[in-house]
Amino acid sequence: MRAPRPTRRSLIAAVSLATLCGLTACGGGDAAGTATGDDAISVGFSQLGAESGWRTANTESVKASLTEAAGFDLNFVDAQQKQENQIKALRDFVAQDVDVIAFSPVIETGWDEVLQEIKDAGIPVVLVDRTVDTTVEDPYVTWIGADFEQEGRTAGEWVAENAPDAKVFELQGTLGSGAQVDREKGFDAVVGDQVVGKASGNFTRAEGKTAVEAALQTYPETDLIFTHNDDMGLGAVEAIEAAGKTPGEDVRIVSVDGVRDGLQALVDKKFNYVVECNPVFGDQLADLVKKVAAGEDVPKETIVEDEAFDQTTTQADVDARAY
Ligand code: AHR
Repeated sequence: MRAPRPTRRSLIAAVSLATLCGLTACGGGDAAGTATGDDAISVGFSQLGAESGWRTANTESVKASLTEAAGFDLNFVDAQQKQENQIKALRDFVAQDVDVIAFSPVIETGWDEVLQEIKDAGIPVVLVDRTVDTTVEDPYVTWIGADFEQEGRTAGEWVAENAPDAKVFELQGTLGSGAQVDREKGFDAVVGDQVVGKASGNFTRAEGKTAVEAALQTYPETDLIFTHNDDMGLGAVEAIEAAGKTPGEDVRIVSVDGVRDGLQALVDKKFNYVVECNPVFGDQLADLVKKVAAGEDVPKETIVEDEAFDQTTTQADVDARAY
């Protein structure tokens, strides 16, 4: 078990108090042991971007849970989907000597150097949402996120059961990201033989639309799209309609995420099936960060529970959706 790191603020408070006591000969240890607002856990959080409805909901959840009132001093930095921005933010967190570093890596590789620097500085890492592929030993204390491979498998099982003859175009997320790699692995393990083509839409609506416009030319036989997130799926809807076809009928759409707009597309019969990826895990993250900062044991991984939605989803379900 990792020894608890005294928080930066508690160290400063302890030094100030010792100095004060030296000058004024204060008695009674009670004040020294009393937790105050100065005991906040400093957390550097590098969010990978704001590319999707999922990401926006995740950011809101993290910010709503890692609050001052809950005992955190959060430094939140948005990397705008650029790895170099994330690496810079992580180095800044090391320079600030935060108590815990949390980050959601935009892609899996390329973190060796900075992870080693964080390790050398003795700052514990909590991985959020996506995973890393690194040569650094024991690079993080714990990871919280969804089972992307299972999400891909669940999508594939729906296709195998409901569209066994479909010609599938796979609209991939950011290439090299854990979400893309594992969703593709899970889906292709079930119905890979039905996939006629693939391209990335980088998890955004605009790039999803562009990728599907091209796919409808290159693979005109496409009658089902498996999209790695709702935003790209909504871009696909625009591209399909612009090509004079009906999304949900001529070209069925199977998606991942389950943000409100994605569920609305199910109700509107433009999407056919959505596998949920739940972004609202800020409270679980806050618990983990507290335990990590205190040097307590935590599980190596926490899987966020997901469900799935089909076209029986109602407008009331959409209206009740929190994100
Ligand atoms: O890593 C989670 C994925 O990232 C979500 O499915 C997607 O919408 C986001 O961009």
